[in-house]
Amino acid sequence: MEKRKPIKRHKSIQPLSRDHHHGLLLCWKIRQGFQKNVATERIKSYADWFWKDHLAGHFTVEESLLFPILGNEHELVKKALAEHRRIKRLFKDKENPLKSLNILEEKLESHIRFEERILFNEIQTIANEEQLRSLDQHLNQDTYTDKWEDKFWE
Ligand SMILES: [Fe+2]
Ligand SMILES: [Fe+2]
Repeated sequence: MEKRKPIKRHKSIQPLSRDHHHGLLLCWKIRQGFQKNVATERIKSYADWFWKDHLAGHFTVEESLLFPILGNEHELVKKALAEHRRIKRLFKDKENPLKSLNILEEKLESHIRFEERILFNEIQTIANEEQLRSLDQHLNQDTYTDKWEDKFWE
């Protein structure tokens, strides 16, 4: 893979990068669950909770505040939006949760890496101070709590 020099994340975007950290942890927990032969329903319940409590809101913020900075016709934004749709469908799938969790874990991780390595860098290069300030107002506190009791990954 092509090596990219890490760009320092603008502080207005840092809360979204913190969400990404939790998202990558979700992927890791799903993998742990599979490795430990945890019942699919237990992993699925946790994934559903994570979607409702954290990820759905994260997608909304990206779609309403961040992506418009580049515009929805931008190739990188189109890719991100298509990935959001795919990931959402995987969370919602009730037909074959084992299969969708497997794909989900991979797709979510690669989506987060794409945003961190490519899309966010592009956005913070283009964004003006006013856009970044408005992000700041919407995203200034870290509200993440993980009160889930069934820690199947431990
Ligand atoms: Fe995203
Ligand atoms: Fe994201």
